[in-house]
Amino acid sequence: LGITLVGFSGGQAKPGTDAGPTVLTDAGLLTQLSDDLGYTLRGDDTVRDFNNLSSERFKSNDPPVRGMKNPRSVSAVTEQISELVYTQAREGRLALTLGGDHSIAIGTVSGVARAIRERYPDREHNKIAVIWVDAHADINTPETSDSGNIHGMPVSFLTGLATSNEPGIFDWLRDEHRISIHKLVYIGLRDVDMGEKRILRENGIKAFSMHDIDRHGIGKVMDSALEYIGSETPIHLSFDVDALDPMWAPSTGTPVRGGLTLREGDFICEAVAETGQCVGVDLVEVNPQLVEGGVGDTVRAGVSLVRCALGDTLL
Ligand code: ARG
Ligand code: MN
Ligand code: MN
Ligand code: MN
Repeated sequence: LGITLVGFSGGQAKPGTDAGPTVLTDAGLLTQLSDDLGYTLRGDDTVRDFNNLSSERFKSNDPPVRGMKNPRSVSAVTEQISELVYTQAREGRLALTLGGDHSIAIGTVSGVARAIRERYPDREHNKIAVIWVDAHADINTPETSDSGNIHGMPVSFLTGLATSNEPGIFDWLRDEHRISIHKLVYIGLRDVDMGEKRILRENGIKAFSMHDIDRHGIGKVMDSALEYIGSETPIHLSFDVDALDPMWAPSTGTPVRGGLTLREGDFICEAVAETGQCVGVDLVEVNPQLVEGGVGDTVRAGVSLVRCALGDTLL
């Protein structure tokens, strides 16, 4: 196991997601992973605290480019996360990252994708699949985005639907970092922008919305999702806590009602863990500053999701 803590909020406008990793670890998440789940957490090489590094990398002069807000900061931070996560996954560790807003997935997914390609150069199935669990598709290009927030764009950069040659703005992303749009599966969608719907449709991207979960149930949806990916392909699970209904996870920047129950979220994580194919896990968008009643419910939900994704079982 390799854990990266990324307290970063530059991919969106609300302060607070920078404290996400701290509230999760303060709740005892790391201790639970070692004491309850039996992972060995040895010193520096297991837990990398990126919280300070990221503020160092924050560029003070960072005006918008193609409408993207804080583009140099997000690029610099995700580039460094990509390297860190790459070295973990390259050693064969499961790379767990606690965010941070969802822009950090540009770093985590690209790092894991590159590591798996290198680890299995001769294997047919050396390109990772990504299961993106979210209320949102996060596949805006800079041009389709209304907000300019990069946490709404990570999938477009990861799939190559968006590219940039601008120096210091995602020009570090190369082919070995990218994923195929045919190995991407969404679960939990319910607030997808017009431009994003068009991108999903035109590229034939696999997506299970809340409507599909209502119709078929989460069990069938996970069967279909995993069947689509196949049993040989390594899987990266990127879980935005706003996929859960705000009843379970209110402390997040862009909550959308009508979401997953905590059990449905846990089930998704359990089903991915059960495959034995999981190589990377992100938990993002926990923002402790946003709710009057406190962050307790959201943190408990986040801890539960991570435990399930790392192999905790009910019996
Ligand atoms: N689609 C909206 C946007 O582009 C919201 C994205 C929310 N993303 C997230 N990671 N919570 O700004
Ligand atoms: Mn979201
Ligand atoms: Mn919207
Ligand atoms: Mn997201």
